[in-house]
Amino acid sequence: MGKVAIKANALVKWFGEGETKTTAVKSASFEANFGELLYIVGPSGSGKTTLLSMISGILKPNEGSVLVEGKDIWQMKSDDIADLRLHKIGFVFQDYHLFPRLTTVENVAIPLILKKMDWNEALKVGLSNFKVAIMRQSYTGV
Ligand SMILES: Nc1ncnc2c1ncn2[C@@H]1O[C@H](COP(=O)(O)OP(=O)(O)O)[C@@H](O)[C@H]1O
Ligand SMILES: [Mg+2]
Repeated sequence: MGKVAIKANALVKWFGEGETKTTAVKSASFEANFGELLYIVGPSGSGKTTLLSMISGILKPNEGSVLVEGKDIWQMKSDDIADLRLHKIGFVFQDYHLFPRLTTVENVAIPLILKKMDWNEALKVGLSNFKVAIMRQSYTGV
């Protein structure tokens, strides 16, 4: 068995209160090892985005814990959680979350700039990734 990358323990998340309370995730637990590809599947509204947000340091669970490489991320300081999101986690959002005032290439380069790469260097890497994406789209339509 591989080394455990992420361990989710009895995660619970609800939204709203009283009559409008919706429990989006009801006690979800799993372990993901390094090198493992894991799919989380379910119909729309079944809690996939909420679960992913809790294990990636975006949304704090109401109950349960998330260990990333053995560290309980929701016990960490918010700056350390931000570092975890920058260095350990890649997240492709369904609704993009782009910065509207930045160019496409600048949007692609933002994580590198946050990692303190030189601005021009980051834009070059952003541009090369952007070209790969465009080429793939023209060949595969995806
Ligand atoms: N920010 C929110 N405020 C209120 N309800 C939410 C919020 N996010 C998700 N929900 C509700 O939680 C449930 C699970 O949503 P979600 O995690 O987005 O499911 P999925 O990604 O599987 O489509 C749904 O009933 C949804 O309406
Ligand atoms: Mg979703």
